[in-house]
Amino acid sequence: MVLTYDFAILSALAEGTFAIIANAGTVSPADSHPWRAAGPHHNTSYWSNELKKTLDVMQDEPFWNGTYWPDTIQWIGAFLNTLVASSERSFASALETGDGASSGAHSPSDSDQAGITKYYSDVRAYFDTEDVIQIFDAAYDDAQWVVLEWLEAIRFIYQDDNYASSAQGKADIARFAHRAHIFYNIVQDQFDTSLCEGGITWNPSLAPYKNAITNELFLSSSIAMYLCFPGDSNTDPYPSPAYMNATNTTLPALPPLAAHGPVFLSNAIREYSWFQSHNFTNAQGLVVDGFHVSEGQTTCDERNEMVYTYNQGVLLSGLRQLWEATGDIQYLIEGYAFVETVINATGWYSTPGSHEEAGQWAGLGRNGILEDYCDAPANCSQDNQIFKGIYFHHLDLFCEALPTRTPLIKGVTFTASLELAAEHAGKCRAYLPWIRHNARAALATRNDTGVVGGWWGAGSVGKSQQSWSAYAVPKPEGSIDEKNEAWVLGEVPWKCRGWHCHAGRQGSRAGALVTGNPMRARSERSSDVNDQGRGRTVETQGSGVGVVKAAYDIGRIE
Ligand SMILES: *[C@@H]1O[C@H](CO)[C@@H](O)[C@H](O)[C@H]1NC(C)=O
Ligand SMILES: *[C@@H]1O[C@H](CO)[C@@H](O)[C@H](O)[C@H]1NC(C)=O
Ligand SMILES: *[C@@H]1O[C@H](CO)[C@@H](O)[C@H](O)[C@H]1NC(C)=O
Ligand SMILES: *[C@@H]1O[C@H](CO)[C@@H](O)[C@H](O)[C@H]1NC(C)=O
Ligand SMILES: *[C@@H]1O[C@H](CO)[C@@H](O)[C@H](O)[C@H]1NC(C)=O
Ligand SMILES: *[C@@H]1O[C@H](CO)[C@@H](O)[C@H](O)[C@H]1NC(C)=O
Ligand SMILES: *[C@@H]1O[C@H](CO)[C@@H](O)[C@H](O)[C@H]1NC(C)=O
Ligand SMILES: *[C@@H]1O[C@H](CO)[C@@H](O)[C@H](O)[C@H]1NC(C)=O
Repeated sequence: MVLTYDFAILSALAEGTFAIIANAGTVSPADSHPWRAAGPHHNTSYWSNELKKTLDVMQDEPFWNGTYWPDTIQWIGAFLNTLVASSERSFASALETGDGASSGAHSPSDSDQAGITKYYSDVRAYFDTEDVIQIFDAAYDDAQWVVLEWLEAIRFIYQDDNYASSAQGKADIARFAHRAHIFYNIVQDQFDTSLCEGGITWNPSLAPYKNAITNELFLSSSIAMYLCFPGDSNTDPYPSPAYMNATNTTLPALPPLAAHGPVFLSNAIREYSWFQSHNFTNAQGLVVDGFHVSEGQTTCDERNEMVYTYNQGVLLSGLRQLWEATGDIQYLIEGYAFVETVINATGWYSTPGSHEEAGQWAGLGRNGILEDYCDAPANCSQDNQIFKGIYFHHLDLFCEALPTRTPLIKGVTFTASLELAAEHAGKCRAYLPWIRHNARAALATRNDTGVVGGWWGAGSVGKSQQSWSAYAVPKPEGSIDEKNEAWVLGEVPWKCRGWHCHAGRQGSRAGALVTGNPMRARSERSSDVNDQGRGRTVETQGSGVGVVKAAYDIGRIE
């Protein structure tokens, strides 16, 4: 079944929504928004080179020791590896379309190909060093970063093979797929309707908390499994041969899992429809962190109003792929609205000419730059330092060109009419000035060894290094910032009190609440805001890779 869309229907359905978007996406001349003109108009070669440089810093000492990132924690490692695999796809597709960095059209240079080969060997090396035992028994969000990681690597292998007819990675597909299978299996039956009519709880060793990230990941990992998982009949359930000895736990055989199974699609659809019907957005339209269930109740009646950047992003790749699998453009339309809400929440659409207004906190940033609450006061946890990179990576996936000529998978995916594809490309091109503004801001925070800082907005507030903490803004009313204040997890309402949770159950999922490396003491003498708190780390670098990759990819949209 291969269908295309009728643009008239699209326009009718989208009326209103699109009018707002088209208006908001208009690029204002720099003189009406002088603060937007943070840099020259850079060409594709520039962004390609910046992506390589940023990635090289992440993939070199002291952050990468040749086989893994010693300073990070497992779920973040899974995401960093996703970024490497995804950058590989960017470079391979640039070679395919003849706009590789250092090369003229259709003549990929040896150095481009060598880069692809080098980064691929990093992705592979990480397969062997990933601490699968620890992350296997972590929470339900953790497992799903691993699913997305190996599916991204598989997508790269297929893409590279298409372009270069290279056999690179072919022999790895089966083991990558098996790992995705093992980790998807952890969550595949965890959508639980006994509380809140559905959704997946964050961590079974805590009181029930149906949060945005776990559920957005279930949308995105389910639909990515539907589209990209090649099938796996290996029934070995152990994430590693050492698992049984390390945990003294035996596991039942893993059921074989076929490619494009309908259960993946129904999981994704059911998840998103639950998410939508349980109002995860605040008055501004930003996604809030999640819901507790008061003891004795069965509905999600206690909302945590905390807003984080990554919660605005992960659903975007899911919505995009839901369109691909169903042909229902409503998923794309909702995606555009989520993106617009975030752009607006950085102050990007503030009154032309008013620098002062642009500098006000707008919900998730200021001066057009995306910020988490912890960025300016420099008290982000390790987890939170990677959030902005996750946002931009998923925005990047959302914006990939819609297939027009041939479906990705015959009988499974849809293609777009030329008009719909052009409309989608137009939306994403309209985001580009904002994305590049953020990428330039991130690059401007690099220190002399090229390491990107965590607060991208530091440069826009006049670099008054003494008063940076004055830029902290109060968190939303009714919020608990559990990502940065991990100690709250030991208290009500987070702590497991035996109701729908299993504190300390041996060998159980999430026995360990991994809170990451503590803040490192920073030099008191450093006057650089981005050296405060945890300072510049592999996580802040990863966030830099995420935004620069989006600036590069979305800039290549025709
Ligand atoms: C941006 O958000 C503000 C405040 O929520 C709202 O008044 C305004 O209409 C929004 N603008 C756009 C272009 O979405
Ligand atoms: C792209 O920009 C770089 C500098 O940023 C410049 O050296 C290069 O010549 C430009 N390339 C093209 C094709 O315009
Ligand atoms: C990286 O660290 C791991 C674990 O300590 C070690 O096994 C490996 O040999 C190191 N790799 C290099 C290239 O130093
Ligand atoms: C597990 O432990 C047993 C008994 O100590 C040992 O014989 C076996 O080699 C171990 N297996 C692995 C994979 O470490
Ligand atoms: C491993 O599990 C078995 C059966 O549950 C138990 O008898 C044994 O004491 C456990 N061993 C360790 C080292 O925990
Ligand atoms: C969701 O909750 C917010 C904040 O309470 C509210 O402003 C908004 O109207 C609600 N949305 C829906 C669709 O109920
Ligand atoms: C840049 O930051 C990294 C990470 O904190 C640090 O290792 C490096 O020494 C810094 N470079 C300079 C020149 O300060
Ligand atoms: C970070 O610092 C700001 C400003 O001092 C404070 O309001 C906020 O609660 C702190 N956040 C954390 C997680 O400590």
